[in-house]
Amino acid sequence: MSLTNDLKILYRIAFHPIRGGTHKERLESFYKEQAEGYDAFRARLLHGREEMFTRLPFLPDTRWADFGSGTGINLALAGDRARTLKRIYLIDLSPSLLAQAQKRIQGDGWSNARTVEADATTVKLPDVTEEETTPLDIASFSYSLTMIPDWFAAIDRAYDLLKPGGTIGVADFYVSRKHAEEGMKRHSSGARSFWRYWFDQDNIYPSPDHLPYLRRKFETVYLYEGRGTVPYLPGARIPYYTFIGRKPADDIARTSQIDNS
Ligand SMILES: C[S@@+](CC[C@H](N)C(=O)[O-])C[C@H]1O[C@@H](n2cnc3c(N)ncnc32)[C@H](O)[C@@H]1O
Repeated sequence: MSLTNDLKILYRIAFHPIRGGTHKERLESFYKEQAEGYDAFRARLLHGREEMFTRLPFLPDTRWADFGSGTGINLALAGDRARTLKRIYLIDLSPSLLAQAQKRIQGDGWSNARTVEADATTVKLPDVTEEETTPLDIASFSYSLTMIPDWFAAIDRAYDLLKPGGTIGVADFYVSRKHAEEGMKRHSSGARSFWRYWFDQDNIYPSPDHLPYLRRKFETVYLYEGRGTVPYLPGARIPYYTFIGRKPADDIARTSQIDNS
């Protein structure tokens, strides 16, 4: 942790205007000048990632895609268990962050990993044959859903690429629904408004709907709703969740089966 790096990142987060006519241009405008110092700062802000990766069932000779992978930090968080995977796809729209991921792949000898510059909502995976319509065993999103405007399309894409019985892991910021379902956390009106306002300037959208949508599409294996510290915001506790879900093993493309009778 270095104060100079923190100040540089804080300036980009708090003051630097984000420009661009497309989502990809806006991401680059936000990330280009902070790609190098990104990991050290975010390690203190993005809670629950380690726990999520500990709980994912990485098995030899299977495939994992990390949607919105950024610098590929999740390779380090997944650790040695991911070394025996057949293929790891690091999918992101930001060339600056993927350049860091590429450095990591080469520097740390991740011969089974490759970067894929693509939109998570429509991504096609390289080296997958046409017959392999559901090539993935594991899909993960760590703090990327809140940055993807069509986050439901990104979840749908991961769902479609996952094998029946495959696992999804998500860690992200969120706010609860005003009338959250029984057994789920409820955040105060002030918390729900403040965090959405605070993140809005950086095009980050904590949503009350990620968790209900994930729980509707996947069987819940594990769910934790917590609060974490925020660097340089003493006393603040930001809401986040960690979700592990399973695509139903008997899935017969529920989303595409429309009964018109
Ligand atoms: C907050 S960062 C998280 C990065 C990394 N997963 C981590 O845990 O540090 C969000 C990431 O989502 C990526 N992203 C945003 N929208 C995307 C999209 N539509 N398709 C692919 N990646 C996207 C951003 O470029 C960025 O790398």
